Amino acid sequence: MRILVTGHLGYIGVELTPLLVELGHDVVGLDTDYFAEGDFLAPPDPLPNLGIDLRDVTPLHLAGFDAVVHLAALSNDPLSDLDPNLTYDINHAASVRLAHAAKAAGVSRFVFSSSCSLYGKTADAELDERAAFNPLTPYGESKVRVEQALSQLADSSFSPVYLRNATAYGLSRRLRADVVVNNLVAHAVTTGKVMLQSDGTPWRPLVHVLDIAQAFVAALAAPRHAIHDQAFNVGRVGENYQVRDVAQLIAELAPGCVVTYAEGATADIRDYRVDFTKIERELPGYQPQWTVRDGIEQLLAAYSGGGMSPAGFAGPKFFRLRTITQLLDRGDLDTKLRWTHRHSHAPSPERQPA
Ligand SMILES: NC(=O)c1ccc[n+]([C@@H]2O[C@H](COP(=O)([O-])OP(=O)(O)OC[C@H]3O[C@@H](n4cnc5c(N)ncnc54)[C@H](O)[C@@H]3O)[C@@H](O)[C@H]2O)c1
Repeated sequence: MRILVTGHLGYIGVELTPLLVELGHDVVGLDTDYFAEGDFLAPPDPLPNLGIDLRDVTPLHLAGFDAVVHLAALSNDPLSDLDPNLTYDINHAASVRLAHAAKAAGVSRFVFSSSCSLYGKTADAELDERAAFNPLTPYGESKVRVEQALSQLADSSFSPVYLRNATAYGLSRRLRADVVVNNLVAHAVTTGKVMLQSDGTPWRPLVHVLDIAQAFVAALAAPRHAIHDQAFNVGRVGENYQVRDVAQLIAELAPGCVVTYAEGATADIRDYRVDFTKIERELPGYQPQWTVRDGIEQLLAAYSGGGMSPAGFAGPKFFRLRTITQLLDRGDLDTKLRWTHRHSHAPSPERQPA
């Protein structure tokens, strides 16, 4: 298959695309590369990059592709809160234009990277895919709007599928330390303390970045009837945790570490549990491999080997909001998050539209 992967230079994308290439797919990326200075231990594998901003996509860019995997987004709550209008512009409007362009170009499958955060705060029960939307942030709201718009486009020639990822953790060559497990392990390695910013009671569904990648691979390979206009929560049955339990696990696995609470720590607004039965039962080929314990062990090994220094953890490199703020402060990005000049790390189009 010829596959366009947007956001292929992000945390998930750099680990997903090698799997697709290994399976023999012809893979092209589309990423403006905001996180070019954020390699962790090794750079991403080189891949052809359309090198345009998601907001500039036209049907011409989509010609000849069989499938689109759509990851590009302002991709967490703090970053999306920076400018909600911009979040809707990129995460919602540009995503819907991408889908229209794909459909117009004859692309038959569109795998959308959605999020469990569209469920909002509801820790009373494990939520399955039929639960009501209750997004708490522009980020969550943008995911709801895109799913609804994609569903309108679904027909016999165009099959969208909505992969609602849990919060990711685990090693990636574009590591993020702003996701809870990666963050707490980095605290442990750099300070000897597992520092909780909330009171630790909120529930969170957690999934390894490689299990997310596997879900995308499975959604591309599945027969049409299994995925057409379907939502899947992406994670593993049993992998909902209270944040304090994650902290406790880290303290067990990193000898000498103690759990501490930041001053004034209160309950986090994100507090929910998710049911992953459907994806395990109904998405052929999806078999999650990781648990949070395995992920913590993986991160401890990678961080302790020199990958995460106190200066690195304090700096912008592994934090989305800090990176974007630095690029804005340096004048590399304008207020619309467009590159102000052909910066050395701004992508140059390596491949023109067919
Ligand atoms: N990481 C998680 O915990 C998680 C959880 C649920 C859902 N998701 C979703 O999965 C997707 C990928 O997440 P990630 O963690 O890899 O994010 P990321 O922030 O690491 O990567 C996003 C990529 O998109 C690119 N991008 C952003 N805006 C762009 C634009 N206007 N034009 C071109 N490229 C642009 C960035 O340069 C970046 O490389 C996102 O849609 C995110 O919302 C992630």
